[in-house]
Amino acid sequence: MTFPAQYYHYCLAVFALLACLHYGGQAYQHDFYQDHTHVCLPGQIITEVQSTFNGRDRKWNVTCSPAPGSARTIDCQWNAGPLFINEADGEMLYQCPGQKVVTGMASVHKGVQSDRLYKTYCCDVEGHVPHECFYTRYINAMQGDMDYTLPSGNSLRGLYSYHNNKREDRQFQLNVCRLDALELDTSG
Ligand SMILES: *[C@@H]1O[C@H](CO)[C@@H](O)[C@H](O)[C@H]1NC(C)=O
Repeated sequence: MTFPAQYYHYCLAVFALLACLHYGGQAYQHDFYQDHTHVCLPGQIITEVQSTFNGRDRKWNVTCSPAPGSARTIDCQWNAGPLFINEADGEMLYQCPGQKVVTGMASVHKGVQSDRLYKTYCCDVEGHVPHECFYTRYINAMQGDMDYTLPSGNSLRGLYSYHNNKREDRQFQLNVCRLDALELDTSG
């Protein structure tokens, strides 16, 4: 029996497609139960937040884009004060201090409480101020996927979430602000 050559090409194409789909499904920045840290490159801010849940844990993918006006990100810091912005099973309500916006996120899984402890990395965006801030609705259902893209020209300033012990998950809202250039009055 012969096997026409074009079938090999067909098989290769199907294989490549499946490999891509598989890779696409895996392309988070960490595995369940593992630490997550993602800090934007200098000059970038977080513009999209994705995560998925497996019944016990949530894994994350955050995407960065250049800050408005190609401004520099300066004076960066992990959340000042406490090491994490929430306690295991506790409520989270955090905003970057001053005029800073979120340019990185990190978290560690706590097996006993089946929760994550989160940190944010905050920077000033040179010559820019966050304003017209608002809280989104919940951007995920309990145990559901999340994929939120900030409206263009906006930045992430903080996060709210609460934990549900029965479902072992959190529902998140984001604090989002327009990020505009400071109007300097040079007339004087
Ligand atoms: C995670 O984000 C990157 C871009 O930053 C994207 O290429 C990738 O597809 C995302 N992963 C998922 C699971 O959507």
